[in-house]
Amino acid sequence: MSTIAVTEAKPVEGPRPDASAGDGVEKLIDVRGLAKTFRIGFFRKKVEAVRGVSFDVRRGEIFGFLGPNGAGKTTTIKMLTGLISPTGGEAFLFGQRVPSPEARQRIGFLPENPYVYPFLTPREFVELCGRLSGVRGSALRSRTMEVLTKVGIAYAADRQVRRLSKGMLQRTGLAAALVADPEMLILDEPMSGLDPVGRKEVRDLIYAERDAGRTIFFSTHILSDVETMCDRVTILRQGEVVVSGSIRALLRGDVVRTDITLAGASPELRASLVDLGFTLVERAEVVVVEVVGEARVSEALRLALDGGARVLELLPRRETLEDLFLQRAL
Ligand SMILES: Nc1ncnc2c1ncn2[C@@H]1O[C@H](COP(=O)(O)OP(=O)(O)O)[C@@H](O)[C@H]1O
Ligand SMILES: [Mg+2]
Repeated sequence: MSTIAVTEAKPVEGPRPDASAGDGVEKLIDVRGLAKTFRIGFFRKKVEAVRGVSFDVRRGEIFGFLGPNGAGKTTTIKMLTGLISPTGGEAFLFGQRVPSPEARQRIGFLPENPYVYPFLTPREFVELCGRLSGVRGSALRSRTMEVLTKVGIAYAADRQVRRLSKGMLQRTGLAAALVADPEMLILDEPMSGLDPVGRKEVRDLIYAERDAGRTIFFSTHILSDVETMCDRVTILRQGEVVVSGSIRALLRGDVVRTDITLAGASPELRASLVDLGFTLVERAEVVVVEVVGEARVSEALRLALDGGARVLELLPRRETLEDLFLQRAL
């Protein structure tokens, strides 16, 4: 097609994106030193929303793009989807420099606050999105019902959008992202506005879409929701990457602390535990001894039992993404 000729005719600026990650894995997103500075107000004050961010997303994976509110996630996603342009660095979608309308056709995008025309119904809105992506006729009708069912709002397919809850709007947006059967989903905070059941349903949907062969890139500010879901993550803070890598390499499952819950710990016992360097947390009727290092667990236990306390619970704590983030963000 002519698009190929156009791409080849373009002058090559800097190194061409290598669409493989070295071991034959294809990079569907490749972001290199991406930056965005906004200028706001009369004095054109600088807001450095994204400050030299690099990461890549490989075919077939679930990739978590994490960080607290204001970290720069949505700004990065807007640059990837061509809604705003970078002020520095570069980004590639399917090997094409953004903004690339052609690459954009291959993704399903759920914006952070999906704008859905209030007087349309979910069915009409999803059909409209499908038609804009080139789906037509009976395929459009059946595909629309299929995705509305998949996201769990088929029962409200013909209600006006202005009468839907935030969670139902979020589901309508997800259905719209799926309707054209994209190779990759880019979801900006797909779990926001949903209750715990809704969040679980979105998690299950993400797994199912990955199993169906789609690549998933999603952002969230809730770290604890995602560490079990993602193959790889990048965590941003104030526009910069603070943690990046595969979950398996980042969280090796090491015990970082053991919490021993004691009842009936006398003031003398508490004092000697503190003297030996253990941290005590007082909770109502009990005291929790936080033991760092597996080597000291027996020592704390012996002291507690000899001191006449009862051991109610012994809980090994493994490192979480949140721990990692807090360590590196300080
Ligand atoms: N259009 C804009 N003009 C000025 N500042 C912006 C604009 N969009 C985002 N920002 C600022 O950029 C930073 C990153 O925002 P955002 O990308 O929305 O973060 P996140 O999605 O991680 O919560 C914030 O400080 C935000 O206030
Ligand atoms: Mg955001």
